[in-house]
Amino acid sequence: MTANAAQPNEPGIRPGEVSVTLPAQYDASLYFIGRIRTPWKERKDCPKNARASRESGVVCTIEVDPRWGQALPGVETCSHLIVLYWMDRARRDLVVQMPTRAEAGRSTFSVRSPVRPNPIALSVVELRKVEGNRLEVVGLDCLDGTPLLDIKPYFATTDAIPDARAVSHARKG
Ligand SMILES: C[S@@+](CC[C@H](N)C(=O)[O-])C[C@H]1O[C@@H](n2cnc3c(N)ncnc32)[C@H](O)[C@@H]1O
Repeated sequence: MTANAAQPNEPGIRPGEVSVTLPAQYDASLYFIGRIRTPWKERKDCPKNARASRESGVVCTIEVDPRWGQALPGVETCSHLIVLYWMDRARRDLVVQMPTRAEAGRSTFSVRSPVRPNPIALSVVELRKVEGNRLEVVGLDCLDGTPLLDIKPYFATTDAIPDARAVSHARKG
């Protein structure tokens, strides 16, 4: 697939959104190291973010390809993990997006939408169980079959910034 090809089933562009021509070539390649199994087949059913998913308590399964099995020992000692995944059904060419119910367009790098030049998503998940190459976790917000990019330990001492701000995202009311 070339860089400019449309993603399968990607939603169309909305009024107020701005797209750009994607570069003609990729700068790097990556390996999908597994797949994420979730109950959600359609975007409308997916949790909107990791917090909504955590609050639902739904357990999802990360299936790591057997090739990478030896990369897993030690993971089971972590209560929480950072999971990186590839939003394979998102378009990649929007620089301004119109989130549902938004009154004005939002720039791509100011939002957590899966629509971005490199559709990489992340969630901090709670690890419930490890069985061979399968990890049961709570806190994912992706469609069933979403490709897995990486797994890292979450270090509260390093990663948590309790007083961090994102003023334009503050909840109203
Ligand atoms: C708003 S994003 C948040 C992503 C991630 N937690 C982050 O902040 O990096 C979550 C939404 O992406 C959409 N989505 C989930 N899996 C996807 C996939 N494989 N391809 C494209 N869109 C997806 C769903 O609509 C879901 O509610």
